[in-house]
Amino acid sequence: MTKEEAIDRIKYLTAELNRHNYLYYVKNSPEISDYEYDQLLKELEWLEKQYNYQEPDSPTQRVGGFITKEFPNQPHRFPMLSLDNSYDWNEVVSFFKRNITNVDDVEFVAELKYDGLAISCIYENGILITALTRGDGTIGEVVTNNVKTIKNVPLRLFGDYPNWVDIRGEIIMPFDSFNKLNKEREENSEYPFANPRNAAAGSLKLQDSSLVAKRNLQFMPYEVLTETPIFSNHYEAMMKAKEWGAPVPPYIKLCHGLNEVKIFIDEYEIKRDELPFGIDGVVIKINNYELQRQLGNTAKYPRWAVAFKYKPEQALTQITSVDFQVGRTGVITPVANLNPVLLSGTTVKRVTLHNFDFVKQNDIHVKDYVWVEKSGEIIPKIVKVEVDKSPPDAYPVCPPRFCPACNSPTLHKEGDPFVYCTNDKFCPPQILGKLQHFISKDAMDIETLGEEKIELLYRKGLVKSPADLYNLTYDQLLGLENQYQMPDGKIRIVRFQHKTVENILKSIEKSKSKPFDRMLYALGIKNVGSVMAKNIANYAKSLDKLMQMSKEELQQIPEVGDITAQSIIDWFSDPDNLLLIERLKKAGLKFALDEETPKSEKLKGLNFVISGVFEDIERDDLKRLIEANGGKVLSSVSSNTDYLIAGDNMGPAKRQKANELGIPIISFKEFVEKFKINNI
Ligand code: IVH
Repeated sequence: MTKEEAIDRIKYLTAELNRHNYLYYVKNSPEISDYEYDQLLKELEWLEKQYNYQEPDSPTQRVGGFITKEFPNQPHRFPMLSLDNSYDWNEVVSFFKRNITNVDDVEFVAELKYDGLAISCIYENGILITALTRGDGTIGEVVTNNVKTIKNVPLRLFGDYPNWVDIRGEIIMPFDSFNKLNKEREENSEYPFANPRNAAAGSLKLQDSSLVAKRNLQFMPYEVLTETPIFSNHYEAMMKAKEWGAPVPPYIKLCHGLNEVKIFIDEYEIKRDELPFGIDGVVIKINNYELQRQLGNTAKYPRWAVAFKYKPEQALTQITSVDFQVGRTGVITPVANLNPVLLSGTTVKRVTLHNFDFVKQNDIHVKDYVWVEKSGEIIPKIVKVEVDKSPPDAYPVCPPRFCPACNSPTLHKEGDPFVYCTNDKFCPPQILGKLQHFISKDAMDIETLGEEKIELLYRKGLVKSPADLYNLTYDQLLGLENQYQMPDGKIRIVRFQHKTVENILKSIEKSKSKPFDRMLYALGIKNVGSVMAKNIANYAKSLDKLMQMSKEELQQIPEVGDITAQSIIDWFSDPDNLLLIERLKKAGLKFALDEETPKSEKLKGLNFVISGVFEDIERDDLKRLIEANGGKVLSSVSSNTDYLIAGDNMGPAKRQKANELGIPIISFKEFVEKFKINNI
C-alpha cells in the first residue's frame, strides 16, 4: 500500500466509523455488529500508527491515551448560566407570569434536568475542537481529550451544520456504570464515589484519558449556540442538532402553554424511578429565541428558563437512641440513631439533631417517629415529628453532663443552644477535629489526606498535632490499613499504596507554601474564620507582629471586635500553642505576608496572551509576573496582541489566529530571555 492509498483508506475508515457511531448512538439503528465495528477500528488504529497520519475526527481518539497534567482555562464565548429553581409548581407559573402575560399561548420546551456536570462542546467546521467545563461560568477548563473518549459525543457533525457551533449539555454517569465503578473501587481498596454526579465530575478531571474512556460517561445535549442566529426557536435547534449527530435525548417535549408542561412533569415524577440515570427535576424553557432575547438574563439566571425540582423523597422512621458527637471546638451535637430506612436509593441510619434548641423547638424525644428527607440527595435531615405516633415510653433528649468522649464535665450556658466539652487539650474528637480543620480546603488544603486518612494517622498515634504532619515519613505511611464501613454496612479495608503515600507527602510539602492568612486560619483560633484571617494577615503582616499586638490594637483590624480580639490573645498566651508555632516555623510554613514582587517597566505597553500549561511556572504566576513588569495580559488573540506565550497543550484556535495575524509565538524560556525578566 502506498502512503497515498493508506491515507485514502484512513479517511474512508474515519468517515465510516463516525457514521456507524451516529447510527448507533443517535439513530438507534446500527448497520453492523459491535464485532465488525471493532475490526474496522483496529484496522484504522494500525494504519494510523503505520503511516503516522490521523484525521482530526479520528474515532481512535475515543480510547484515550492523552495525559493532561493541568487543564488550561479558556473563556466561554457565551457565558454558561445557571438556572433559577423551585420545588413549587405555582412558583414556576409565577416565574413566567412575571415576565409574560399570555402564558397559555406561549410555546415551552420541557426537558429532564440531568444530574451531572455541564459541558460545552465547540465544533468548528463540523469537527469537535474544544470541550470546556462550566468553571465559573465565564472561564471554563479545557477537557477536550477526556470528552473525546465519551462514546456518544460526536467527533464530527453531519449535514448542514454551521461553521461554528457550541453544543452544550450535561455529562452524566448512568446508575449501572456508577455501581460497577464503585464495586471495582472497593475491590481495589479505593474510596467509593458518593453519587453518580461526583463520579462523573471526578472522571472528567482524570489526567489519563484512557481511564476516562472506561468510565462509560454519557453526553445529554440541552442547548445549541451559534455565532449568528440561524434558528427561530430552541426546539428546532435541538432537532437540527440531532440531525447533525448530537445525541439529543428523547426526554424533550414541545408544549403549548404551561398546562402541557405540567403533564410532562407529572409523567416523569412517576417514570423517574425507572430511568437508568439520575435526574433532579425538569427544565422549562421558553421556546422562541426572540422572546428569550427580549426577556434576557439576570446576573446568574436566564428569565426565560427555570428548573422545577422534584421534592426529595421522605420516609417515616423511629428514633431508637441519641448519641452525642464532639466537634473540634468542643461543641457537643446530638445525633439520632434511626430504624434503618430506604431513602433515594440508600439506607439512612443516623441524622443530626443540630443542637439542643432544635431538639426543644421540635420537641424531639427518643422513640419518636420522624419524617426524614435527603437534602441535596446526600445528607438526611428531620423535617417533621409525627406527634400522634409517639409511644408512651418516649423520653426527652437531655444535654449530657459529662463529655461522651473524654468524660470531662460539660458546660451549658443559659440561652446558648450548644453544650461544650471543657477539656479542649486532651479530648480525642477535639484534637482530631483540629487536625481535620488544619488540612481542610480553605486552610492548608492537604487535599490527599482527607478526613478519613487523617483520622487513621491520629488513631495510629502518628499525628497528634498539626506539626507532626511535617515529620511523617514514607515508611511510616506505606501499608497503613484503614477500615471503614460501606453504606451497606460491610467493612472494607483500604491500604495505603505507594502512589497514595507519595501524593500525601507531596501535598504536605506543597502546603508549606500556602500564604500566611491560610496558615493563620488553619491554627483554628476561636472566632477566626478564613475572611477574618485574611484581614488579620493583611493588617499585622507577620505572626511576630500579631503576637505583640494589644487587645486595643487588634480591634483596629477590620471586623475584629472585642470577642475575637480576646480569643486571639487567649490563644497566644497558651504555651502549648507557642510550642506548635515554633514547630511549624521550623517546618518552613509561612509566618508573614509574601514580599511584593519588585516592580519594573520592562513590558510597558506590551500585550500578551498566555495559552497552554507551563512546566516552570503556574499560569497565574506568569500573569502576575507580566503585570509586575508593566505588561498586560489579554484573554484572546487579536491584532492588539504583541506576543503569544505558548505552553504545552496550547489551543489550536489560538495558534491559528496568531499565525494569521503574524503575532510571534514564544515559549516561557524565550520570554524570560528576550525581556531579561529577573524577578521570577
Ligand atoms: S439549560 C441558560 N437544560 O442544570 C440555560 N440545563 O442548575 C442553561 N442541566 O448548569 C441550562 N439538565 O448543567 C439546561 N435540560 C437541561 C439541563 C440543564 C441539566 C444543568 C445544567 C445547568 C444546571 C442549572
